Amino acid sequence: MNLFDVYPKYTLSPTSAKGTFIYTDEGKKYLDLYGGHGVISIGHSHSHYVKRISEQLSKIGFYSNSIDIPIQNELAQRLTEQSGYSDYKLFLCNSGAEATENALKLASFHTKKKKVIAFKNSFHGRTAAALNVTDNPKLSAPINENNFEVKWVELNNKNQLQEALSQNDVCAVIIEGIQGVGGLDMATDEYLKFLQDECKKHDSLLILDEIQSGFGRSGKFFAHQWANIQPDLITMAKGMGNGFPIGGVLIHPKIEAHYGMLGTTFGGNHLACAASMAVLEVLENENLLENVNQISKKIIEEFKNIPSVKQVKGKGLMLGIEMPFPIKELRQKLLYDHHIFTGASANPNVLRVLPPLSVSYAEFEPFIKALHKILS
Ligand SMILES: Cc1ncc(COP(=O)(O)O)c(C=O)c1O
Repeated sequence: MNLFDVYPKYTLSPTSAKGTFIYTDEGKKYLDLYGGHGVISIGHSHSHYVKRISEQLSKIGFYSNSIDIPIQNELAQRLTEQSGYSDYKLFLCNSGAEATENALKLASFHTKKKKVIAFKNSFHGRTAAALNVTDNPKLSAPINENNFEVKWVELNNKNQLQEALSQNDVCAVIIEGIQGVGGLDMATDEYLKFLQDECKKHDSLLILDEIQSGFGRSGKFFAHQWANIQPDLITMAKGMGNGFPIGGVLIHPKIEAHYGMLGTTFGGNHLACAASMAVLEVLENENLLENVNQISKKIIEEFKNIPSVKQVKGKGLMLGIEMPFPIKELRQKLLYDHHIFTGASANPNVLRVLPPLSVSYAEFEPFIKALHKILS
């Protein structure tokens, strides 16, 4: 049987990984500055992560949500401590798209409305509701047409937002902490505060998609915390499990739960929770947020000194290097000639950099040297 061929691929196949590096069977070593779409947060195969998951697996790996799963409460407690969202509730699922799907449903359940405001260039996932608020019609099938109504607003545009909210018929406004797939644009802190106030005025819930920008990637636990706002719903995935599939929604206490409102077979299973606990423990024990902020400051300066770099976008270790030309060839040279993984985005000129949050400055040096060499 062949695989259903939906992914364009590079011609290499790593078989092991450790920290910021991945290795092929022929012994070739690659520097991973992309973490498989920003998933690797504490580094590949971190010893504590391996131990935590292995120990959990040897006890119990899975049972459904029809029993008590105490490690879910431990995870909620740790999340509270590290994110600061003490009175919010946690719903666990398996992926980013599912987190989006559940957050939108919750907003609609709570407000009893069904229109949504989303932003130009957004990406929130590929399941039905998530796709409907993703600004890329090419990803939709005919079955996705005529879903709920979405009003599209440009990032940082206040008039468009006010106009879109004016009928009081919007259940949610959904926005990424930092746009990932779209190309590293973000709302200003002032705009996020405005957005929060406008949502309150019009009885709409604010959903912050922190699926890529959360779990420390921006240098704060969630990227929106730079703006000092408190959304009603916060979605998480990617870095949350360091590669183990897990997603979640943090839910404002005003939103009431009832049995059957949401549900999943696999979400919040013992193994996934153990993986996420390990991530949170390593984030704290190794002061990774501090590492993100220190490294980020240094490398942004270095990137700005590279010939032809137009601007450096993003925050923390969620960065985009914008060139005045498409980066496709540059990315290939980095991979094949210099053995460095980087990412692309919807903006063809933006090279995406999403290393593990444990990356050291020394590990960045070969990348900076390679960029100088290729571009000068
Ligand atoms: C901001 C954002 N939201 C949602 C998703 C969807 O996540 P998943 O691929 O886990 O469904 C992604 C994935 O890239 C993302 O970057």
